Amino acid sequence: MNNTVINLGLAGLGTVGSGLVKIIQENNDWIVRRLGKTLKVKTIMVRDLDKPRNVVPSADTTFTTSIEDLLGDPQIDIIVELAGGIEFPRQLITQALERGKSVVTANKALLAEHGPELFELAAAKGVGLYYEASVAGGIPIVQTLKESLAGNRIKTLTGILNGTANFIMSEMSEKGEDFSTVLAKAQDKGYAEADPTLDIEGIDAAHKLVVLIRLAYGQDFPLERLIIEGISKVDQFDISLAREFGYRVKLLAQVRDKSGLLQGGVYPALLRQDHILAKVDGPFNAILLEGNAVGPVMLYGQGAGDLPTGSAVLADIMALARTDSAPNNTGFLEARLPQAQILAPERTVFRHYFRFTVLDRPGVMASIAGVMGEHNISIAQVVQRQCAPEAGVPIVFLSHSAQMNNVSAALETIKKFSFVLAPPVHYRII
Ligand code: NAP
Ligand code: HSE
Repeated sequence: MNNTVINLGLAGLGTVGSGLVKIIQENNDWIVRRLGKTLKVKTIMVRDLDKPRNVVPSADTTFTTSIEDLLGDPQIDIIVELAGGIEFPRQLITQALERGKSVVTANKALLAEHGPELFELAAAKGVGLYYEASVAGGIPIVQTLKESLAGNRIKTLTGILNGTANFIMSEMSEKGEDFSTVLAKAQDKGYAEADPTLDIEGIDAAHKLVVLIRLAYGQDFPLERLIIEGISKVDQFDISLAREFGYRVKLLAQVRDKSGLLQGGVYPALLRQDHILAKVDGPFNAILLEGNAVGPVMLYGQGAGDLPTGSAVLADIMALARTDSAPNNTGFLEARLPQAQILAPERTVFRHYFRFTVLDRPGVMASIAGVMGEHNISIAQVVQRQCAPEAGVPIVFLSHSAQMNNVSAALETIKKFSFVLAPPVHYRII
């Protein structure tokens, strides 16, 4: 882009949009020093023109509710989509790309569900579709996978990709606070999605994982084929017991390359307390990956919030403002990435944590252990707690590595025993 002023058409002036505007205002001189160009927020599209705003863009910024004021303005160089949702941004971004305008977005939900067709369109038009802020807020993982680690085959990638869920797990673990109190705090602080079930049911992390799998493996892993388990049913009791065993419970997003097949999922899991990801607390995010040349790499930082996320959006805008060559959107040459070769979830292998609530009577432990043995599940540790016996007593088993189809079959059998008083609790151990 040759002009000395880069005009931005911004859709959305909420948490992230406001953060972006603040950074552009505060760091204007710094941006000019790096780009030799000024960034100007020319037009802002919002839903409600009368809503009070906590940032004041420059006096000549136009506010609008009309998509045409962004797309039909030939002076607007880059469309920045920070509205969220699916249908409106899909329409906005598709039309922007069709008209030859580059786009920056933080919208992982849209990219996870409609990324393939949007990237194909961007490639056909030779324009940019950049999305650093869509995964892990301020952490530069998109650029890292696309450029810095481009020469590596990625063996595994494990991320704490949802700040809201990590904040909830940390506060429940450290302060013993209950789930809904901590969720309300996360919403107050602007970490949570407009619909917080996306955060707590693991869907937001799954959206981000789909984006990362494309970048790391050049394959399209459909969202519906990921294992997705959230944290809404994680019990304080298991968090405390896990601590006693020396573990922390975290919502993890994980992909592993198993001899050419990808195993991917989002689930609450137990991590040893000395594992580097176990120390990632509060709303912070982290990604630990293993490249076949570089070895282990970990990135850590703020995964949500106005300024951290605005920082990532701004980096994309500056990258597009700098380039005159064809933008590198996915990191791969194909206009449409191939479908992932996927390892079936039932064939995945983990160590496991099981908790059964049972009647305290002779033979119970032996019956459960017997079923585990029949399903090739080897027990590593067992603990029985003496609680109020009429409500049943908890028995916790930690297993060695076992295949998921065996685990599912064992749980199906065990839950039918008359001495089992509540649905079994099960987590993977990483
Ligand atoms: P937000 O605070 O809810 O703000 C959304 C903004 O978009 C508001 O200004 C809203 O207008 C506008 N908007 C929504 N629908 C619109 C429509 N149909 N037409 C015109 N304007 C519309 O959202 P946010 O938290 O900033 O998130 C924005 C995007 O960034 C989402 O895709 C989210 O997943 C992603 N993201 C967020 C974070 C974070 O920390 N919050 C981090 C990473 C990525 P009004 O102000 O008039 O209502
Ligand atoms: N709701 C998301 C989170 C925002 O809590 O991580 C960042 O994508």
